Amino acid sequence: MGALRKALSWEVKLWGRVLRPLLSCQGRTGGTRGRTCSSRQPHPALAGLLSATGQVSHWTEVFEKRGIPEARESSEYIVAHVLGAKTFQSLKPVLWTQPLTPWQLQRIQELCSHRLQRMPVQYILGEWDFQGLNLKMAPPVFIPRPETEELVEWVLEEVAQRPCAAGAQGGPLILEVGCGSGAIALSLLSQLLESRVIAVDREEAAICLTHENAQRLQLQDRIWIVPLDVTLEGSWTHLLPWGPVDLVVSNPPYVFHQDMEQLAPEILSYEDAAALDGGKEGMDLITHILSLAPRLLKDSGSIFLEVDPRHPELVSSWLQSRPGLSLSLVAVRRDFCGRPRFLHIRRSGP
Ligand SMILES: C[S@@+](CC[C@H](N)C(=O)[O-])C[C@H]1O[C@@H](n2cnc3c(N)ncnc32)[C@H](O)[C@@H]1O
Repeated sequence: MGALRKALSWEVKLWGRVLRPLLSCQGRTGGTRGRTCSSRQPHPALAGLLSATGQVSHWTEVFEKRGIPEARESSEYIVAHVLGAKTFQSLKPVLWTQPLTPWQLQRIQELCSHRLQRMPVQYILGEWDFQGLNLKMAPPVFIPRPETEELVEWVLEEVAQRPCAAGAQGGPLILEVGCGSGAIALSLLSQLLESRVIAVDREEAAICLTHENAQRLQLQDRIWIVPLDVTLEGSWTHLLPWGPVDLVVSNPPYVFHQDMEQLAPEILSYEDAAALDGGKEGMDLITHILSLAPRLLKDSGSIFLEVDPRHPELVSSWLQSRPGLSLSLVAVRRDFCGRPRFLHIRRSGP
């Protein structure tokens, strides 16, 4: 840790030496002080380094030397963000080689120093796209993962194909357990125009972020955001006012407790552990959701879950030993890596 801090301060000092002379003669927007120095062109070698491509190469090298994962992607995202674009490739080519302003260079340095401390890029940028929606991201609220987009797509397919999943009034009433940033709930709402979602989470930070993202996307009128710990005795009664739902969707904490320490430092240091740790067999919240479902779901309602590849078998035998729940595992889907990761469970009786 001491070595990391020392190396970091060396990097910051070095950049200070490059940036200070530039900053001392030019403000954030240039201004008159910039003019007095304009005759002092940077050395050609330095000019290359001070362009967007030069910064990407420089920080990629720094990240690689320090063992930061996805070194190039990280530096490209940061440089693009500072230049007001989402990706480096979407920047106008003229901006790749143009010298950056001292303010831009300083901002890139600040953001890259967070990455050197293993902060995930999504938190550094403060935003991330999910299913084409731009969502605000803030630690320690769980960052939506790309495979969860497949869960959303499966739910959308099911709603399109099965009229009973679509709900009586045109759009299904959906309950999302553990909404985090609101990624699943809001992407479903954005595509199911007559749908309504009840989004619950036990963490205050997640509830606030879902509110913010709902406002940001103008979807606040069709979402009820409820602070609720579904493992607490009788918690389900708080959900009764909305009536039985057509669908329950959840990407619950499902990591096996013993696997938690193997997670990347990005996750362990910045994301809420309670959003990931599913207990001994990763089933703690999953079994709570399944136990509550018969009280909350309509007779032929469905539950869609994202799980660990070991869960389809565990969930199947857990359900078989509880026939009173009237729930059956009807389909398992694989993620883009071919691992069985998504479950469709249907309620088969009153
Ligand atoms: C893996 S994250 C998923 C977040 C979001 N749905 C997504 O896919 O990006 C799990 C979420 O469940 C919430 N959670 C964990 N235990 C809970 C509980 N007992 N009751 C309600 N929410 C819970 C966590 O706070 C976290 O936001």
